[in-house]
Amino acid sequence: MNKAKRAAVIAGNWKMNKTPSEAKALIEEMKPLVKDAGCDVVLCVPFIDIPAAVEAAKGSNIKIGAENVHFKASGAYTGEVSADMLTEAGVEYVVIGHSERRTYFGETDQTVNLRTLAALNAGLKAIVCVGETLEQRELGYTETLLKFQTKMALTNVTAEQLKNVIIAYEPVWAIGTGVTATAEQADEGNGFVRAAVAEVYGEDAAQALTVQYGGSMNAGNAEELLAKENVDGGLIGGASLKAKDFAAIVAAASK
Ligand code: PGA
Repeated sequence: MNKAKRAAVIAGNWKMNKTPSEAKALIEEMKPLVKDAGCDVVLCVPFIDIPAAVEAAKGSNIKIGAENVHFKASGAYTGEVSADMLTEAGVEYVVIGHSERRTYFGETDQTVNLRTLAALNAGLKAIVCVGETLEQRELGYTETLLKFQTKMALTNVTAEQLKNVIIAYEPVWAIGTGVTATAEQADEGNGFVRAAVAEVYGEDAAQALTVQYGGSMNAGNAEELLAKENVDGGLIGGASLKAKDFAAIVAAASK
């Protein structure tokens, strides 16, 4: 099975939650619960929590990620954080193009691409998010949109750099709503992403790509979603803020 070729990755996306001391406490609680994971375990945390999170995760199998990165190396970009700043702080992964950033902060397919390139050039692993709105789904544009977003995000990414890319299919209508895509919808969406990558990089590269599903994945539905051929992991919002729930998802991905 091709799934065996791909790294399973469960990544938490804390969004704008947890102070540094709360981050430390949550990671301490998670460490023993996920220590035997048979998948990669990542926590993407607010910028301000990064030092505390890196320190708390030291010596464990938990890797720390950021939730965004700017595309310039330095300069007059008030409020932004560069890829080099993240790597020096001990960050290994970064979420790029989350739908909340696209919706609330004017993120476009172009800036998603620039941020992806900046992250990869700095040696970070990029978790690039794509996904359709409910309206786009109902109009029948899901496949077209997912393929377009995927190809746009990967413009000028080399085949070698693609090895450090994870794509998270996150239907916008399923994020934070409690409405999860069915396992079939998740598998299909992830399959569209993989097909887009195959069109540009070839079938082997596409089969090696980790494609996560995200959107109300939780302890109860993770196993069914992760059993699907094209679902190689999850990007977890709400359920990553509770140690036991997150650990249950990690356990489901480790089977
Ligand atoms: P959710 O968020 O699990 O709370 O739906 C997922 C995400 O936004 O990455």
